[in-house]
Amino acid sequence: MSALEPLLEFLSIPSVSTDPRHQKDVRRAALWLKERLEALGFRSELHETPLHPILYAERLLDPEAPTVLVYGHYDVQPPDPLELWESPPFSPTVREGRVYARGASDDKGQLWAHVAALEGLEARVNLKFLVEGEEEIGSPHLLPFVRAHREKLRADVVLVSDGAMFAPHTPTLTYGLRGLCYLEVRLQGARRDLHSGAFGGVAPNPIQALGWILARLKDGTTGRVLIPGFYDRVRPVSEEEKRLWPPLDEEALKGELGVEVLPGEEGYSPLERLWARPTLDPNGIFGGYQGEGSKTVIPAEAGLKLSMRLVPDQDPEEVADLAEAYLKALCPPGYRMEVRRLHGGKPVLTDPQSPPMRLMARALEEVWGRPPVYAREGGTIPVVAELQEALGAPVVLLGLGLNDDNLHAPNEKFDLVNLEKGILAIRRFHGLLAESG
Ligand code: BES
Ligand code: MN
Ligand code: MN
Repeated sequence: MSALEPLLEFLSIPSVSTDPRHQKDVRRAALWLKERLEALGFRSELHETPLHPILYAERLLDPEAPTVLVYGHYDVQPPDPLELWESPPFSPTVREGRVYARGASDDKGQLWAHVAALEGLEARVNLKFLVEGEEEIGSPHLLPFVRAHREKLRADVVLVSDGAMFAPHTPTLTYGLRGLCYLEVRLQGARRDLHSGAFGGVAPNPIQALGWILARLKDGTTGRVLIPGFYDRVRPVSEEEKRLWPPLDEEALKGELGVEVLPGEEGYSPLERLWARPTLDPNGIFGGYQGEGSKTVIPAEAGLKLSMRLVPDQDPEEVADLAEAYLKALCPPGYRMEVRRLHGGKPVLTDPQSPPMRLMARALEEVWGRPPVYAREGGTIPVVAELQEALGAPVVLLGLGLNDDNLHAPNEKFDLVNLEKGILAIRRFHGLLAESG
């Protein structure tokens, strides 16, 4: 397939946005894509930011024709742990109809489908591409960029391809994303590490205190988050909406995860907990001695990485305020607590029946031979809410990945069937849009 060769090139650039050692590679990925878009007749600009550049490109054919803004990200997550990869993360390898590489599914492969779809496209649509290199670190510079460039970005449809299909062979239109509030909590006890015999009994232990605090963030029986006000803005899901949800194969999910139960908030189905209920999860905990064997020490400091997935109409800043106030109130005497806000993103709901969603549904059905399912997603794409608000245009979230694509994990892959069908569906979507406009 002719779309594959360039994708392999794109995937071989280690554009890890969080790692300063890869700063030049991130830029290289942006330039690589810029060149590709220019070859397709786009006019493009690289917008410098204090960190990674934003690529904006446009191909405006006809002021009367509809305009599509395509969003994606060219940065990737770190490939660690390296030893678990069957082929090196930045030496893309095709095995059994799948391409394996970091970024194959999230998001270079999916983004590439939108570029490859333009090859031989005859539809009269104006195209704009907005591609960032900071999605995996929370889009710190894209959010203000969108607010400052509404006019330039103006479009009739925002098309996002950075998600997943509900199941294999199941074309999927996504109409909701969860938001995110990510905090780091640090607790300081004594001024320095202490001998646990010489000082145990009089010294504050920040690991102990942190564990005590952590246990008070969520009810162990009901799975409810205990931060006061946390659920105040959660919009309940109507029975009507739930009836439209596809059935979740819980046994298959348990099998995939290697677990016997799917723990979570009491009173809600697993699918509702994944798509429409907020969560709180410690993502990392640190402090004290982590090496081989034992070391008798009372550490001076301990810390916690905490993520909260949010749903409409929760607001990341507001939730951070609530969480911080509660954490500070829980902090026992004798400890200093610092709460840092690492990143956030607002939740999104789009109209599943908007005119462009209907067109995409038709395009998907033509290509896959079956109508799409309508799904929400548990993950976050921080800029989507911002695009929706700033541009006021309908958003179409088209996921081409699969849930077993190993996003953010070793052996990330992308199925070439989905690349191929995705390209056809996107091309068809542009065609239908041009006819309808
Ligand atoms: N593409 C993902 C989000 C996603 C994952 C959507 C699965 C649909 C299905 C995105 O690149 C991502 O990883 N987002 C981060 C956001 C964070 C780094 C601000 C996330 O959700 O953790
Ligand atoms: Mn992504
Ligand atoms: Mn990601």
